[in-house]
Amino acid sequence: MKLTWLGHSAFFCQLGGIDLLIDPFWTGNPTFPEGFEARLAKVDRILVTHVHADHLGDTVRLAQKYDATVIAQYELCEYLGGKGLSRFEPMNTGGTVAAGACRVTMVPAFHSSTLVEEGKVVCVGDPVGFVITSADASLYHAGDTAAFGDMALIGKMWQPKVGLLPIGDRFTMGPEAAAYVCNELLAFDTVVPMHWGTFPVLSGTPEAFAPLVRRGRVRVLKPGETIDL
Ligand code: NI
Ligand code: MN
Repeated sequence: MKLTWLGHSAFFCQLGGIDLLIDPFWTGNPTFPEGFEARLAKVDRILVTHVHADHLGDTVRLAQKYDATVIAQYELCEYLGGKGLSRFEPMNTGGTVAAGACRVTMVPAFHSSTLVEEGKVVCVGDPVGFVITSADASLYHAGDTAAFGDMALIGKMWQPKVGLLPIGDRFTMGPEAAAYVCNELLAFDTVVPMHWGTFPVLSGTPEAFAPLVRRGRVRVLKPGETIDL
């Protein structure tokens, strides 16, 4: 599996013969690596964890440009249908869909999934995370979430070896809770911190997170950096 961090919670991931984007918040993301899109030839699927703008991001534009199928919760797919998209894999929490040689399972996240339209706050489904497995790789993108006990169930059922965990605090869990997840709930080989450093209001840092992690290797990526796992 090749994994590229694109700043915030955005990743480009190649596994099981397909090219995936997750939470493609590019426009307005001060940490998005300049020039990345010019090098991106193909996108097969776009996975979206929830409707917040720092996760939905450029999904509509990129899905149209690359003719990619969006994998998201049913309500979010309905919402995107209203924005002109037509290629979806609607699903809901607990479900699994095939994507190339991968299996994509939607798992819970403790957060919210709202936007403001015409001055009103509208709920668009629930926030979720994704577990993606192929013959030789397994990845858990936690989305925006608090730590919660059933992360242990995600570990028992799917044994994800690579974890992408938010550490920025305030809107998600912070460094201490994310380290607890690694030490007590999920046995990752590799954990990549995300949802940090984008905006000053996100106070959690890898420097606070990494020393607390006793199980698994913390890989702090630079935006645009690719690792082979
Ligand atoms: Ni959010
Ligand atoms: Mn967020």
